[in-house]
Amino acid sequence: MPVKITVNKPSLPVYSEFEELAKEIWDSSYLTNFGTVHNKLLHNLGIMFRTENIALCNNGTTALIGAVKVAALPKKKKVITTPFTFAATAQSILWADKQPVFVDIGKDGFCITPETVEPAIDSETSAILPVHCYGLPCDIAAFSELSRKTGIPVIYDAAHAFGVEVNGKSLVTEGSASIVSTHATKAFNTVEGGIAYFSNDKQLRQFTAMTNFGINGGVTDQLGFNGKLSELHAAVGLLGLKHFSQRVIERSKVWSYYDEFFFDIHTVETTVIPHGVALNYAYYPVKIVDRNIDLDEVTRKLAAKDIIARKYFSELLTEMPFFKDSLTIGTLDNATASSNRILCLPIHESYVPYKEFIANEVLAALKYT
Ligand SMILES: Cc1ncc(COP(=O)(O)O)c(C=O)c1O
Repeated sequence: MPVKITVNKPSLPVYSEFEELAKEIWDSSYLTNFGTVHNKLLHNLGIMFRTENIALCNNGTTALIGAVKVAALPKKKKVITTPFTFAATAQSILWADKQPVFVDIGKDGFCITPETVEPAIDSETSAILPVHCYGLPCDIAAFSELSRKTGIPVIYDAAHAFGVEVNGKSLVTEGSASIVSTHATKAFNTVEGGIAYFSNDKQLRQFTAMTNFGINGGVTDQLGFNGKLSELHAAVGLLGLKHFSQRVIERSKVWSYYDEFFFDIHTVETTVIPHGVALNYAYYPVKIVDRNIDLDEVTRKLAAKDIIARKYFSELLTEMPFFKDSLTIGTLDNATASSNRILCLPIHESYVPYKEFIANEVLAALKYT
């Protein structure tokens, strides 16, 4: 048994391989600034996502700030987004000098929908920023149609969605822009890191320059920052990428086991994977339908057994002080319901031998609260 079963956990490359590559980097004395390892990782990810229109950067937040800066309509201020996400989604909108406008997620799933977004669109709308929450895709076809109809770009926060495919196409290559987090706890990691996709080549070049102080072919001609991914971070990714597919298969075993285990437990509503979606199985969200069950009590009981489940996202962004003055259009009934009742259970490739133990402990914690 691992000391602690955390909700998710870094997936690491083989240490001896990392040591060998780190030594090569050391000996080269080339530690960052678009080096060989960075370029190899970029190349391999391009093959995986079937696109050349991606750039790497130092985390998902800077990727999102840059994506909004580059792909949202200039001169307009409002970016329509979800309150049911991690703070970084809408914090990035503020850092990109735009204003978040919050709308509800749909009745099914965890994403904002064209139906909740459309009433919020006005002449000041600069972009729509949906989140593929838990890696589960938003309605990409309907958002694409909405974007075509209105001329408003869709920028996806695909922080959770590394490796997810819809009908064989990478989810990362949807929208005008899309960003992935490759933070340590994500399905694939570079310790800290991010990936940005742009459908428009010019925007991709602009973003890449932006992550390098705005330097374009030796000339500093735009506002930028330092958002580069170092060689050591890229090395963790390059070596970890070789194991990604196998790890998805292992995590899917934990997912399927939980699905079967909770099938007859009426208070636990499991999450249905939509048809055509190949998930990365990085999160296992369940809805605890019985309102008499106190989820804080459940997580405390599990923590006492060294099992960490999380109420992602128990605090809607609209409750955070820096978003208090942001606009909300419509009710947030569905987001509020999810924030009160969703629990993410531990899932990781190394938990295959413990899946039965974890599921039994979850059930015990639910019964005795
Ligand atoms: C939905 C969402 N967006 C953005 C981010 C930010 O990514 P990073 O931690 O790589 O900056 C996260 C991080 O967990 C996230 O969950």
